[in-house]
Amino acid sequence: GAPVEADISALKPGEKMTVEWRGKPVWIVRRTPEQVAELPKNDPLLADPKSQRKQDELTPKYARNEGRSIKPEYWVGVGICTHLGCSPSDKFQPGPQPSLPDSWPGGFLCPCHGSTFDLAGRVYKNKPAPDNLEVPPHMYVSDTRLLIG
Ligand code: FES
Repeated sequence: GAPVEADISALKPGEKMTVEWRGKPVWIVRRTPEQVAELPKNDPLLADPKSQRKQDELTPKYARNEGRSIKPEYWVGVGICTHLGCSPSDKFQPGPQPSLPDSWPGGFLCPCHGSTFDLAGRVYKNKPAPDNLEVPPHMYVSDTRLLIG
């Protein structure tokens, strides 16, 4: 499939947009500074905090960092659960939520079997999903335009 260009100029902090690439939903999340600051705190709760598993499939070289991203503010990921392929829901609100860790800082929840992911698409421990969400190949062509694929 051809690369897809996304205009992110209207995306506000704390929001997500979705574009389709190769028939898959690709999420672009604009994280707030607070959300970025929370990421390292999740590490002890995650199955693969440093994104070391299946790196060639799941995490391009330029996204092998805490935020799994080129710019800390924006996270780009494929919105398909690594368990059986459902599409996780946004759970961006911090604080206690039913069936989520008490200190939930926001992220994604898969409705099918309850896997949870943080705002870098990193899967929490002891969940059915074995791996972090995929970060697709992408690059910035300008400050407001992203090329995916
Ligand atoms: Fe997401 Fe099973 S498909 S937890």
